[in-house]
Amino acid sequence: MNAFTHRNGVLHAENVSVEELAGRYGTPLYVYSRNHLRAQYRALADAMREVAPLICYSVKANSNAAVMRTFLEEGAGLDIVSGGELFRGLRAGADPGRIVFAGVGKTRDEIVYALREGIRFFTVESEPEAERISRCAAETGTTGRIAFRVNPDVDPRTHKYISTGKKENKFGLDPARAARAYAWAAGLPGIEIAGLHMHIGSQILSAEPFAAALGRVAGLCAELRDRHATFRALDIGGGIGIRYSPDAVPLAPGDFARAVTPTLRALGLDVVLEPGRFLVGNAGILVCRVQYIKENAVKKFVIADAAMNDLIRPSLYEAYHEITAVRARGGTIKGDLVGPVCESGDFLAVERDLPAVAEGDLLAVRSAGAYGFAMSSNYNSRPRAAEVMVEDDRAELVRARETWEDLVRGEV
Ligand code: LLP
Repeated sequence: MNAFTHRNGVLHAENVSVEELAGRYGTPLYVYSRNHLRAQYRALADAMREVAPLICYSVKANSNAAVMRTFLEEGAGLDIVSGGELFRGLRAGADPGRIVFAGVGKTRDEIVYALREGIRFFTVESEPEAERISRCAAETGTTGRIAFRVNPDVDPRTHKYISTGKKENKFGLDPARAARAYAWAAGLPGIEIAGLHMHIGSQILSAEPFAAALGRVAGLCAELRDRHATFRALDIGGGIGIRYSPDAVPLAPGDFARAVTPTLRALGLDVVLEPGRFLVGNAGILVCRVQYIKENAVKKFVIADAAMNDLIRPSLYEAYHEITAVRARGGTIKGDLVGPVCESGDFLAVERDLPAVAEGDLLAVRSAGAYGFAMSSNYNSRPRAAEVMVEDDRAELVRARETWEDLVRGEV
């Protein structure tokens, strides 16, 4: 579904006018569609139904409680990467038994917190991490269930900053080393071998790297399954790419499923998925208001009230986000859409045919639901944007706009 369409010339989020939302809540404003979130979750669950996976929503993509709750109501678990995400997930009502904890740098405090809460398993990135979990489990009288993260060394053909399953990346252990790590870790006190994890990268647009990666770990999984009675989970991570530009071809959940289900079914393990972007990316837009239009000798700049601190993906990855006029005037302006931040790298679109706009007009930056608000900051002492959830013809504020007072809270 596309939750953001023009009706009578005005962009709507489901049945709510984005113009009205901007008037009511101000700009910059993140707007999410609950029905889009649900539709994405259901499409993936349906495509993968043969192996009935536990879909652990990757909280880092968008950690707003209203977003998490929408998936929790659908039966999702959570994929977390910090104590903060565990805190937020539990507060949103997640069952700890459906939470998996990833990341190369888990601290002692984070591990103890997760052990006490009884999470499903830790995805473990190194031997010293397994040792630390073992010590924390002994101290707290709990059991640390672990799944080593295996780095299968496949190229996911995505941006180098979001590729994680190549041997030069910091993530996981190569398959041979992982095999030795399992044999060793099985003898550690307080450790239970729960499964195997991999995650090869993000915004992957073809099913082939997923199939290749799975092929490289399938043999090891079969051996581990036969050796350890408690080895029951195969977590294949996230990474399913979405459409950012109108002419791009996204990875359909059906194609993803066809590439991975035969191997998964043959292994007979409990399948875990960790999708983030696929679930939320196209369920959100960032709405901003044009402040000025400026022209120099070589270029036109549309200057909006949203900036790199609100959405850093264009600056950080040269990511493309489609820009739409909230009220279409017709025609285009060629130029850059930039924000007020004092950096030449502060842009939302570069050398684009932007919709023709005038001062005061609203623009929507599409596909901003994943890694949008979640990566936003207070740079240039800019309060972070408000977030609104729309469902059918209702809209509710799900995070208030920060104030100037919020900027100095905690300063002593
Ligand atoms: N699981 C693990 C262990 C991960 O590290 C990630 C993302 C995911 C799951 C979810 O991946 P997804 O399904 O969303 O592709 N900030 C970047 C993306 C960084 C992804 C980091 N890890 C961006 O804006 O493109």
